[in-house]
Amino acid sequence: MTRPAGLLCGIDIGSDLVRTVLARMPEAPSGTEEAMGLEVLAVGQAESRNSVQYGEVVRLGGVTEAVRQAVEEVEQAAGVEVGSAFVSVGSRTRRSINSSGAISILTPQHRIAESDVYRAVMAAVPRDGGTAWLRPPYELLHALPQEFWVDDLDSTDNPTGWTGEKIESHVHLVSCPAATLHRLEEAVNGAGIRIERLVAAPLAAGYGVLTGEERQDGVVLLDIGAMTTEIAVFRHGALRHSDLMPSGGRAYTRDLALGLKTSHAHAEQAKRRYGVALAEKVPEDDHFEVHVSGGGYPKQWRRRLLADVLQRRAESDLTKIRDQLGTVLREVPRTMVLTGGGANLDGLSDVTRLVFGAYVESRGPQGLTGRRDLAERPDFGCAMGLCRYGLLHRQRRPATRPRSALSEMGRAIGDSLRRVAGHLRKAQ
Ligand SMILES: Nc1ncnc2c1ncn2[C@@H]1O[C@H](COP(=O)(O)OP(=O)(O)OP(=O)(O)O)[C@@H](O)[C@H]1O
Ligand SMILES: [Mg+2]
Repeated sequence: MTRPAGLLCGIDIGSDLVRTVLARMPEAPSGTEEAMGLEVLAVGQAESRNSVQYGEVVRLGGVTEAVRQAVEEVEQAAGVEVGSAFVSVGSRTRRSINSSGAISILTPQHRIAESDVYRAVMAAVPRDGGTAWLRPPYELLHALPQEFWVDDLDSTDNPTGWTGEKIESHVHLVSCPAATLHRLEEAVNGAGIRIERLVAAPLAAGYGVLTGEERQDGVVLLDIGAMTTEIAVFRHGALRHSDLMPSGGRAYTRDLALGLKTSHAHAEQAKRRYGVALAEKVPEDDHFEVHVSGGGYPKQWRRRLLADVLQRRAESDLTKIRDQLGTVLREVPRTMVLTGGGANLDGLSDVTRLVFGAYVESRGPQGLTGRRDLAERPDFGCAMGLCRYGLLHRQRRPATRPRSALSEMGRAIGDSLRRVAGHLRKAQ
């Protein structure tokens, strides 16, 4: 098999499934992100089989095997060899904060160069590591610029070429324990895949399912997986808040298994086939059958009961997320997008609308070409986003595309800060 240039592979390491998307880069970059026209070549998936818990690698061998399988699937479908990939970091040990810093422009005309913007972002990372989350054993994963104030007068997403004496940067920092990242790296490398970049899962999901316009206007994204719900808040084109709640679709199934006195597998089947998260959507006299644990004959239940159980779980988890977001919600319009396997649950967007008082859509990746039918499901939101992120990561064309140049620079900065964080760790 060949290894053609211009391919992008995203590997989403999930608690239920490892998912892969193989896409082709467009030949000439077009104007907007949506029109970047990633061509989907193939998708793959393999069960994580309890080797990933709450998004974190707990059994290296199991994850290596799942990655190998999921990569082989795309390789065989597309007839190519995958050498490297962009990989998600979905760990519940991941942390994030917003930070700011300022620098002076010392050149005679005070003309701001790209290197100044770089310094400004660096200045937002506390030198002494600041908060505990930026000190060892944590490593910096991303330093994502939000905006820059020039001389306290004007703000912009890229001040390159402006004149001013001082730049103040506002940056979203994401960190993760080094050991978590190393385990992930080892597990993926074990399958013969080089990691091009580790990417925080909520950031990837944001690139996967949101339009540039949504990220600009403001939106709350929930990626509802099996054991985690990844939370991302975007506004003015940048990530403002990212977090994780350690609960997802598996909790719904667990509640059902208890309520219906059946096995996890039967409860999962019933949830997917008959599940609705808004009880009032179910006619009173609808019934379904499920096997009772310990064998025997299937038992008939009212479908309303199933919906009641699911609605209670949905309300409880969504209320926790709403409370966790707290004042962050005041900064964005009440627009929400649900993605991830859990977003397939019928009626979940209705309950979300009730809990948040927001306009809510459930969906997967949009604006794809090629085998888009394979990757448009919400389950592939994160894996697809890893490919989009990968495209931006590779297209560092500073002069031609200011916005993406800036976000790419952010990533470059993220990389170097990780090294800085590594040096800090060694120095202490
Ligand atoms: N049709 C459906 N109806 C209801 N729930 C569904 C449906 N399809 C999938 N799910 C749920 O989606 C969850 C898995 O989502 P996903 O595949 O995104 O998780 P993951 O990425 O492997 O895990 P995580 O992100 O938590 O690490 C499971 O709990 C599953 O029950
Ligand atoms: Mg997931």
